[in-house]
Amino acid sequence: MEKQGQKGGRLLLVPCPFQGHINKMLQLGSVLHSKGFSITKFLAQMISHQDPSHPQFSCIIYDEVMYFCPAVANHFKLPSIMFRTCSATTFLVRALIPNLHLQGCLPLPDSILQDPVPEHYPLRFKDLPITKFGSEEQNLRLMANLFNTEKSSAIIFNTVDCLEQSSLAIIQHQKQLPIFPVGPMHKLAPNSTSSILEEDTSCIAWLDKQARNSVTYISLGSIASMDAKELEEMAWGQANSKQPFVWVIRSSQKISPEWIESFTKDFKNSVGERGCIMRLAPQRQVLAHDAVGGFWTHCGWNSTLESICEGVPMICRPCFGDQNVTARYVSQVWRVGWQYENELERGEIEKIVLRLMVEEEGKEMRKRARGLKHVVEASIDDGGPSCNSLNELVEFIMSS
Ligand code: UDX
Repeated sequence: MEKQGQKGGRLLLVPCPFQGHINKMLQLGSVLHSKGFSITKFLAQMISHQDPSHPQFSCIIYDEVMYFCPAVANHFKLPSIMFRTCSATTFLVRALIPNLHLQGCLPLPDSILQDPVPEHYPLRFKDLPITKFGSEEQNLRLMANLFNTEKSSAIIFNTVDCLEQSSLAIIQHQKQLPIFPVGPMHKLAPNSTSSILEEDTSCIAWLDKQARNSVTYISLGSIASMDAKELEEMAWGQANSKQPFVWVIRSSQKISPEWIESFTKDFKNSVGERGCIMRLAPQRQVLAHDAVGGFWTHCGWNSTLESICEGVPMICRPCFGDQNVTARYVSQVWRVGWQYENELERGEIEKIVLRLMVEEEGKEMRKRARGLKHVVEASIDDGGPSCNSLNELVEFIMSS
């Protein structure tokens, strides 16, 4: 897949094959193309056909997960730039995990879970992005590889300076590499789709009929899911709140498709016009809709940035990994959401939904979210930090 630019060199973009990662790389490619670069994506074997005396590419930009790229780039004497699609803070604190292992603290003992992580306020040990997938040994090896930027020329972050200033400053100090925070990418490349699967746009007509700020949007992104008990608690919590909602219920490895289908059908009948349930929503359009006043989210980094950019306050229920870090930042640093920490229970769900959608506290939270939206928006305006950072990135690539 190629795009021809006019004045820049040809860049090879190497994405990681997960939806959230591919989308961001496509957005970055589209932004760099608009700055005059030619773009080649996905064609891993092309690099091995490169003639070192007549380089086809001027630079490789790789998703951090594709950590073998810098070694290949070095072999062909090309610069390589890491593209980090998640938050800068997660990148930073993930580096603490191998040390915890060396100190014999993994798995984390219950006694320290609530303790603050020294020098990383407001994170607690329980918020660290320790993944439960795969073996501990595999994860530690992966983390060491992901944090190793020895052979990289620079790091691009899909983040905004005003959201993660101190984490970015520490990374800059530790890595001694040029750092380019150029987010939010979806605002710099607004015409790109947020999903590679087909979205159900019928909810937009339904939202048009709802009052301003009245609807809760519920979605857990593209990987996390609920089990049957959690789905039932969520359903009755939402129903009992008597507030309208749009709910994305995706297929789940935890429950059979037949169970989900019959549950969704019964629940739709019980809530009638007050609920709009679907498998995949046009999320950015939904969050931008005037009727949406709150987002029940797993705090995936893309969902969080999308919510912040539309000024929608959040109820955070992280499921794993970096989502815990982001939920903590949403609730304690940017203060545009609350974290739901306990097991899903219908009474608690009803309470937190009413708190956000109806009560005075929720209105205050919405005001703060609107304020943050304006600050983040300003970062991509001419002269804003993300805009400047993008221009510096272009200069950096051209002079490499
Ligand atoms: C994964 C991890 O879960 C997350 O922790 C990490 O930060 C990024 O990788 P994912 O679960 O896909 O992310 O969540 P998120 O990062 O929020 O991305 C989901 C994307 O899918 C968003 O851009 C969202 O707009 C889009 N989406 C989701 C839709 O367009 N429609 C939907 O119905 C649901």
